[in-house]
Amino acid sequence: MPRHESVWSATALLPHCRPLEENVHADVCIVGAGIAGLSTAYHLAQAGLSVAVLDDGPLVSGMTRMTTGHLTNMLDDRYYELEKLHGAEAIRVAADSNSAAIERIDEIVRRENIDCDFARLDGYLFLAEGDKRKTLERELDAAHRAGLKDVRLVERSPYGWDSGPSLHFPRQGQFHPLKYLAGLAQAILRMGGRIFCDSHADHVEGGVPALVHVGRHVVTGDALVVATNVPINNRVTLHTKQAPYMTYVIGARVPRGSVPQVLAWDTGDPYHRKLESWARSRFPMMQEVEFNWGGQIMETIDYLAFIGHNPMDHENIYVATGDSGMGLTHGTIAGMLLRDLILGRKNPWEKLYSPARVPVKAAGEFAREDLNMAAQYADWLTPGDVKSLDEIGRDSGAIVRHGLEKLAVYRDANGTLHECLAACPHLGCIVHWNPGEKTWDCPCHGSRFDAYGKVINGPANRDLALIERTQDKRAA
Ligand SMILES: Cc1cc2nc3c(=O)[nH]c(=O)nc-3n(C[C@H](O)[C@H](O)[C@H](O)COP(=O)(O)OP(=O)(O)OC[C@H]3O[C@@H](n4cnc5c(N)ncnc54)[C@H](O)[C@@H]3O)c2cc1C
Ligand code: FES
Repeated sequence: MPRHESVWSATALLPHCRPLEENVHADVCIVGAGIAGLSTAYHLAQAGLSVAVLDDGPLVSGMTRMTTGHLTNMLDDRYYELEKLHGAEAIRVAADSNSAAIERIDEIVRRENIDCDFARLDGYLFLAEGDKRKTLERELDAAHRAGLKDVRLVERSPYGWDSGPSLHFPRQGQFHPLKYLAGLAQAILRMGGRIFCDSHADHVEGGVPALVHVGRHVVTGDALVVATNVPINNRVTLHTKQAPYMTYVIGARVPRGSVPQVLAWDTGDPYHRKLESWARSRFPMMQEVEFNWGGQIMETIDYLAFIGHNPMDHENIYVATGDSGMGLTHGTIAGMLLRDLILGRKNPWEKLYSPARVPVKAAGEFAREDLNMAAQYADWLTPGDVKSLDEIGRDSGAIVRHGLEKLAVYRDANGTLHECLAACPHLGCIVHWNPGEKTWDCPCHGSRFDAYGKVINGPANRDLALIERTQDKRAA
């Protein structure tokens, strides 16, 4: 059986960090210790500001643990699509900022001497089945207009199978994200920054100072950055402009030297569902699948992250969200951009990533996502996944109708049932059981909860409401 964790989790130890046990003040308080939060803390500490970082898990316990570790300026959503929405200048800024993020990681790795397997690699974008060469030609032209003059169309990529023509993106990057962030955390501590783990931000308030309530304690900051992947402070504005998608990864050993060391992407959308058979047919030397894992990405309606001042909020509140599958570079861009905004410096990327932007040309996508979310409320009227609790197997969950309510019921490996209200505490959509990850996922704005209903991803900032009743008779 493959291990259900990322290959990064299995191969790196992160430094221990203690929970918050007193009230603390810092120039900037940052909620979230993933790549966005730690990159922001690092850049601010380097600029001489005091920082306090809070995370409700151990270090890097969110989506950065689940990534595939590609550092690229090849846009997941294509330069020609971005140009249609935002224009010619925008694609130059997108190319420049993503390239600068890879450069910055390279620089930090060298400056801080971080042993994180960082490597510069070539990347190849090839055609998914059924896609036409024209797609690559359009993307090549757009990449050149964006300033990436060294991108080339090649007739064969360096894989063993015939992948047909592809676009070659030189000098991309790859690293071990947990080792990198462990190094970044050490550097933040060395510069006097403070990092607190197992410290759930229950509530944040803007104003001077900004407040973050963590149980009995409060962290105050002249500025506050919410880098919780999906913001916990913004109830509606941003959540109507992005939507959650699950994505999955497998990890298998191959004989040394049998596969070229390159990054490879195809033009397919959505990503391959039958990962193992797809990979085996192209990499016959692949041994057993040792790892499988999955995670959630936030697709914004206009393909770019939201990094900057939180719309309709106090001036000193900032957010970083909307990774669009490029969260490692976007998280690093957040570090550089938020530092400049907080210090009152000009930054040429500010407008492109502004969370307040309203891209008129993305209105169709906006309406589609909103209708999709509205459709999720119909779940209140449908029957449950099962008629009887007996139908729920061990270590598995299902939605059960109980009168007017819907319950999220998990039967643990010992047969004991754990019941919660299935209404998401964010805005009330009905959560769905995710059998691969053993989580309850909200289809509306990306909240996720563990099998017992504990919140693991915002915007919900509370657990699913527990149903208190005697479980004995219900246990199988
Ligand atoms: C399968 C997969 C593959 C991917 N591959 C790539 C790739 O190859 N290249 C790429 O660029 N991007 C990739 N991405 C996207 C990228 O990994 C993520 O977008 C990025 O890591 C997100 O970083 P983050 O800091 O925004 O969020 P996270 O890493 O999720 O960090 C947020 C942190 O906030 C904490 N938190 C949340 N709520 C609270 C609270 N109330 N109080 C305190 N702390 C809180 C969480 O515990 C978490 O540690 C991939 C994503 C997935 C899922
Ligand atoms: S995430 Fe918004 S209703 Fe669940």
